[in-house]
Amino acid sequence: MADLQTKVLKANQSGVNKAAAILSAGGLVAFPTETVYGLGADARNGHAVASVYAAKGRPGFNPLIVHVADLKAAKRYAIFNDLALSLAARFWPGPLTLVLPLTENHGLSELVTAGLDSVAIRIPQHPVAQALLNAFNGPLAAPSANPSGRISPTQAAHVVADMNGKIDAVLDGGNCVIGVESTILKITGSKVSLLRAGGVSVERISNVLGQDIATPSDPKLPQSPGQLKSHYAPKAHVRLNVDIVKGHEVLLGFGPDCKDAALNLSPTGDLVEAAANLFSYLRKMDAMAQDGIAISPIPMSGLGLAINDRLKRAAAPRP
Ligand code: TXA
Ligand code: MG
Repeated sequence: MADLQTKVLKANQSGVNKAAAILSAGGLVAFPTETVYGLGADARNGHAVASVYAAKGRPGFNPLIVHVADLKAAKRYAIFNDLALSLAARFWPGPLTLVLPLTENHGLSELVTAGLDSVAIRIPQHPVAQALLNAFNGPLAAPSANPSGRISPTQAAHVVADMNGKIDAVLDGGNCVIGVESTILKITGSKVSLLRAGGVSVERISNVLGQDIATPSDPKLPQSPGQLKSHYAPKAHVRLNVDIVKGHEVLLGFGPDCKDAALNLSPTGDLVEAAANLFSYLRKMDAMAQDGIAISPIPMSGLGLAINDRLKRAAAPRP
């Protein structure tokens, strides 16, 4: 994505159609929601999702929120119980994200869910986000459209200032009225817990539900997935930065010099391709491995930081 000129598209039908075409071709488009500008990519396209992490310069793979146009589309990806349905009926479209179990044939890139068996999903209210989702007619993974560690953008000009040359286009839909990210709730059976405070207040939600919500100060609250050291580790033992394979280890290679690799994250040494393959290849390697998985060195540049971060967790001692 380097060196491209980021297009600023007007939020009329022609601009929306252009944005949808870029997304369908695997490109990246920032778009307004009522909370903040999101950096959108086709959530089914691993290469496109990997490019989002690359553009943001994220040092790790946190799971991303999937944006859809309506409840019918949401049900393709997430399993709704009655509690989830009542929250959806009351707060969607709007600044609420629900973390729910994944459906079986969801078809989302594993990079979106970071290999978890749940998905964060939301229906944004902003008319330009709605128009884009309808024109694109598919799920959009979209974190806030800022470089990692910077302030979330609430105007197209913020996106251009921070991301120019790193993304294909931004749809200019004016100011975001809410200005903070969506509230994230995780629903597990009849239990609701707050994963992130945001655009809808916890008080409003507990009023609607008539039940308390576990809040971040609550020690019982599940940790955010990225913080768990050996989170979604393969069952097999994992050894990193391997040049010489031991015993019956199977090798997950990277780059052109890995003739003996069972699978190669990117034979050409492309870090975006490697990131796109990472989670599904780890799964396949785990199914193949009898005596451990060996992994070739991955350079510590660009997406290599996030890939190495994830691999370090996969190799960490199990709790
Ligand atoms: O307002 C918003 O929510 C903005 C706009 C663009 O929609 N989007 C946004 O997305 O903030 P993102 O991808 O940056 O937020 C992802 C958050 C992370 O904190 C992540 O840990 C959490 O959602 N998350 C995503 N999937 C999850 C899952 N399966 N389980 C737990 N947390 C999850
Ligand atoms: Mg953000």
